[in-house]
Amino acid sequence: MRYGHFDDQTREYVIETPETPLPWINYLGSESYFGLISNTAGGYSFYKDARLRRLTRYRYNNAPLDTGGRYIYLRDNDPVLASARTWSPTWMPTRTPLDFYECRHGMGYTTIRSRMAGIESQTRYFVPLGENLEIWELTLTNQRDQPADLSVFSAIEFNLWDAMDDATNFQRNYSIGQVEVVEDVIYHKTEYRERRDHFAYFACSEKLTGFDTQRDAFLGSYRGWDSPKVVEAGHSEDSIAHGWQPIGSHHVKVQLKVGEQKKIIFILGYHENPKDAKFDPPESQTINKRTVLPVISKYLNCDEVEKSFQALRVLWEGLLEKFQVSTPDVHTNRMVNIWNAYQTMITFNMSRSASYFESGIGRGMGFRDSTQDLLGFLHLIPERARERILDVAATQLETGGAYHQYQPLTKRGNNDVGSGFNDDPLWLVLAVTAYVRETGDWGILDEQVVYDNQPGSEKPLYDHLQRSLQYTLDRLGPHELPLIGRADWNDCLNLNCFSDTPGQSFQTTTNKEGKVAESVFIAGLFVLAAKEMAELSEKLEAKDKKQDRTYLLPPSEFYMGKAAKMESIIWQHGWDGDWFRRAYDDFSHVLGSKENDEGRIFIEPQGICVMADLGIEDGRAEKALNSVDEHLATPHGIVLQQPAFSKYYLHLGEISSYPPGYKENASIFCHTNPWIMIAETKLGHGDKAHDYYSRINPSVREKISDLHRCEPYVYVQTIAGRDAATHGEAKNSWLSGTAAWNYVAITQWILGIRPTYDGLRVAPVIPSAWKNFEVARMYRGVRYVVQVERKGLGNEVQLEVNGKPVKGNIIPMPAENTKEVRVRVTIT
Ligand code: BGC
Ligand code: NOJ
Repeated sequence: MRYGHFDDQTREYVIETPETPLPWINYLGSESYFGLISNTAGGYSFYKDARLRRLTRYRYNNAPLDTGGRYIYLRDNDPVLASARTWSPTWMPTRTPLDFYECRHGMGYTTIRSRMAGIESQTRYFVPLGENLEIWELTLTNQRDQPADLSVFSAIEFNLWDAMDDATNFQRNYSIGQVEVVEDVIYHKTEYRERRDHFAYFACSEKLTGFDTQRDAFLGSYRGWDSPKVVEAGHSEDSIAHGWQPIGSHHVKVQLKVGEQKKIIFILGYHENPKDAKFDPPESQTINKRTVLPVISKYLNCDEVEKSFQALRVLWEGLLEKFQVSTPDVHTNRMVNIWNAYQTMITFNMSRSASYFESGIGRGMGFRDSTQDLLGFLHLIPERARERILDVAATQLETGGAYHQYQPLTKRGNNDVGSGFNDDPLWLVLAVTAYVRETGDWGILDEQVVYDNQPGSEKPLYDHLQRSLQYTLDRLGPHELPLIGRADWNDCLNLNCFSDTPGQSFQTTTNKEGKVAESVFIAGLFVLAAKEMAELSEKLEAKDKKQDRTYLLPPSEFYMGKAAKMESIIWQHGWDGDWFRRAYDDFSHVLGSKENDEGRIFIEPQGICVMADLGIEDGRAEKALNSVDEHLATPHGIVLQQPAFSKYYLHLGEISSYPPGYKENASIFCHTNPWIMIAETKLGHGDKAHDYYSRINPSVREKISDLHRCEPYVYVQTIAGRDAATHGEAKNSWLSGTAAWNYVAITQWILGIRPTYDGLRVAPVIPSAWKNFEVARMYRGVRYVVQVERKGLGNEVQLEVNGKPVKGNIIPMPAENTKEVRVRVTIT
């Protein structure tokens, strides 16, 4: 069953009922000001950091679902009509039945339209480029056959900035709330008098009939957002908040003639003043509004709003233009051309911090998360990718290890979580090499980057990559496999934890010194990273003169040697006969082997080892992938391991804390599925790769939305596995490495359009039924139009570049100033 449909022309998903199984959300803003918005206008906003600079309040895990948002109430002023005709044009929070409802989630904006009692309304929410504010543009149309006399009330609840503190420290918070209301603008200035130099504002384009800033005055103490006292009464209290819960609500009266249309603009924004110019007059405690007022008046203008909305459309058109494909499969096209690319921007911006499943207070930017997110995002805005790489690298420790997370606002490593996730640093190598292949920006390797944000510790970025590898080599266990530390990619495989105390964090508790438990996954990842470093050496040596480099470059053989050594260890201790093993625990017992009763086979090492080219020549890779198919694949995707752990194992940690079939305990943990897709393409299996791609493709799953439940336009982290009671049910949409890796799998490995250091490679491994496809891709400033035609059932390609045959499968770099290259590809 579906709850809406894709509109590929406008690049929107159209939700046709407010009662989706879960709130189906979108994101506003992609620079510094961000918002989450659901299909019924729920959600919240923040500046840069969802924990430390939260503008509005949101109540997670509430009943009803999705409480707190960007609310508008409409009400007929006629006292006789009012009781029957008070409604929310976005359905929530009043949940009054609407005659028509439609929500369109687009690229960086959301529009919710509805009709009720002859009044049509449309609210368009977006963040103008370059601004720290959001616009709600409300358009009302009177379709009645008589004039309409309406009241419009807006409502948001301010957050007292630090979202964690806001939700816990009530003895203080109930006393600190402060607002100003000046010339119809509501300013939220809690803590502005002390150490903050920022405030929020909420403005409206119309002359106000009234306003409210104290929550209980607006709602009434024992009422919810669904039935505010003020809306029921039809007039505001003009309340000023002193402590308690500051809110912002405007009251506007609107008279509409028959057929008349009117636009009302609300803006909610964030503003900073210089420390020495906070107050006006300077000796007062009144906000200095000189720099904010021009911004407010600019955006309370309808033409300006339209102009900035069009600029947002143009931006996204330009970004998505960078990779457009036309294949025989509509689901592939729609995900690659629109939604998957969009989601990679969102994961790039948010890492794992703020979604409807991530509260924005738990996690900042993950080291391994952000480095992997980059893989799918690089080509969209390479300059921002560069900046992110340098930020992440600056949190790396001198040992080569990494803080597991850092806060986006401070860019400092997070001490609460600390380090010791032994896979973390290796992902940096993959991100940086992918970046150089995409951009040709070799100079990034020479960038001086500090360790642990300590001034004076600057070293070239290349040194960071070397230390990443060395970190693994310095930590080998009894089988000479890499020590796992707190965990590897699988945060829940906590082999040194031995936690028997409820409430302990598996991520931060370590009870064993960790000199025994080893990870085959890290070994595979190490081989992949070491081979990347080897290729980098080879290319750098060929490319420039030694004296131009700010670092010493080991020869390619050095890294190949390290990779080969690790490979031989994997074959010795990490191969189980039919698949790759997963790990050795603290007792040196194997995990992910036929010797185990539960957890006999895991997906991660099969993916990563084949991606690192292990066993491709001698059939062992094929064996491993056949085992994946046989033991792990389900119609809803490939589960993480089998058999699921039926009970809690002290020595395995969080993985076995989940009921069978959920999360890391044998759900379809989607992030890992594209690794298998890529592995399948390495063996030339286009049908299999695309089949796996389709099983978790949200657009394919749209038709089972009642089972899947999450948004059909974005990837989720997890789909319940075959051991679960709810097999096929998705959770944790939006913020997952799944977005970047699926993008890489489909664009680079299945469609096979892959940046190399020397040019764009074309090596499609597509389904046998596909006769052709076409890609238009920007690469290093040049537009490549690649037309692929299948003439045989193999994966061999012949290239014709601008009409001339070219040997191999790499399109040579074109002459300078070339704008477009046309490539015809024949697959035989
Ligand atoms: C989850 C993991 C996640 C980790 C991060 C665990 O509870 O299952 O997926 O990576 O928390 O803190
Ligand atoms: C989610 C985390 O964000 C990611 O870093 C981790 O790899 C997976 N969970 C698997 O545990």
